[in-house]
Amino acid sequence: EGSAPIPEPPGWPIFGNSLDIDPNFPMGSIMKFVDQYGEIFRLRFPGRNMVFVTTQALVHELCDESRFQKGINASLVEVRNGVHDGLFTARLDEPNWALAHRVLMPAFGPMPIQSMFDEMHEIATQLTLKWARHGPDAKIAATDDFTRLTLDTIALCSMGFRFNSFYHDEMHPFVDAMGRFLTESGARSQRPAFLTAWKTAANKQYWDDIAILRETAEGVIHERKQHPTNRRDLLTAMLEGVDPKTGDKMSDASIVDNLITFLIAGHETTSGMLGFAFYQMLKHPETLEKARQEVDTVIGTGPVRLEHMNKLPYIAAVLRETLRLSPTIPVIGVQAKKDTIIGGKYAVQEGQPFALFLAKSQLDPTVFGETVLDFIPDRMLDDNFDRLNKEFPDSWKPFGNGQRACIGRPFAWQEAILVMAMLLQNLEFSMDDPEYQLQYKQTLTVKPKGFYIRAKIRNGMN
Ligand code: HEM
Repeated sequence: EGSAPIPEPPGWPIFGNSLDIDPNFPMGSIMKFVDQYGEIFRLRFPGRNMVFVTTQALVHELCDESRFQKGINASLVEVRNGVHDGLFTARLDEPNWALAHRVLMPAFGPMPIQSMFDEMHEIATQLTLKWARHGPDAKIAATDDFTRLTLDTIALCSMGFRFNSFYHDEMHPFVDAMGRFLTESGARSQRPAFLTAWKTAANKQYWDDIAILRETAEGVIHERKQHPTNRRDLLTAMLEGVDPKTGDKMSDASIVDNLITFLIAGHETTSGMLGFAFYQMLKHPETLEKARQEVDTVIGTGPVRLEHMNKLPYIAAVLRETLRLSPTIPVIGVQAKKDTIIGGKYAVQEGQPFALFLAKSQLDPTVFGETVLDFIPDRMLDDNFDRLNKEFPDSWKPFGNGQRACIGRPFAWQEAILVMAMLLQNLEFSMDDPEYQLQYKQTLTVKPKGFYIRAKIRNGMN
């Protein structure tokens, strides 16, 4: 096996390629490198480097957990300032990851998620009513309202906390603090440490925001301890759960880390997915029509119920195809466990950080053919989806990999199918500006930017 050098664009001293990265839209900057350098390339940043891979074959190779493991890269290192070794940001060898993973896996299982249906339904109703009441001429900021929906849903279902975002113009201080915290964590990861040290005002805001996040979560825990309930939610699971392996319980600090983690991981991603799904359906009205027909056939005009959730295969396919074209977490990090050779010719050393660039690997023409860029939900219907995953493993990877894959996937799926069904059942949609072309807003996740829709009540609401 020969060893070829990994292609590498030129960069600057100290700053490396970081000046080539648009801090407001890193994904777009990476895409430009993909156009120039193709399947694999290395970028250098202050004090670190990162190898990007952009094809199904290389992503598949790097998903082998015997050779590679999740890497806490760049912005995740900074996010640890707020949530430490919480589930998302923990290194695999940190004991709190294994402990929280074992305690929480059952709590994210099918039965507990199903038992959250009524609360998810309640928040979905709030969104549907809001849009209905605005009337057919109102310009609806779809992405913002989906964010209200997903934030309120995860907070209510996981810890019995109500943000009531649909009833305030101003978002709860937690929400603003979280947004700034994520943006600044991303920005810090692009700067040399000495520059960050100089930014005293930004630093003060950053640590103040972290304090707001932690105090809010501590308040929720305190409240629950003062007023015990019989809710079987994620907070209960963390407060009462005992690790079957070690007999340990989670510490209060670890519970705070994970409550904040759920609020962050549990809402940005899902709201982005819903925004992109509506964008795609409105751009391809025949898919919107098919989805609506499925809802009319399966649910009719009565209430959306739990037993409908696995009877809407077309809507599931719409969501899968949406996440293929627009993975809301566009990149995931791994690192080499040992010195190794990848792609049959590139030698890398133990600890080498990689970015699996899903935003491109899920657009691999060797997997999806000539129609790779088109929105075609049919190719994601159950049978096709199973075949795809067998024939081209890891070609569809929006929920991450292996034991570090998304713990909240069943939660997100139930929530998204429910709200899609309810919206399509009750409202008719159109693009506010029919000429709108997709633009992205990126923090840790990506969402559609400047995307406005209109909604009109269908014949009577349910
Ligand atoms: C992990 C995507 C919804 C909680 C992940 C990862 C991805 C992902 C790609 C792996 C990240 C990595 O490798 O660094 C998504 C998408 C979602 C979604 C696309 C919605 C469409 C949720 C929800 C929750 C959640 C609703 C919480 C209720 C988590 C947690 C982890 C995680 C805690 C870390 C798991 C671990 O490492 O043990 N998610 N997620 N996610 N997600 Fe999600």
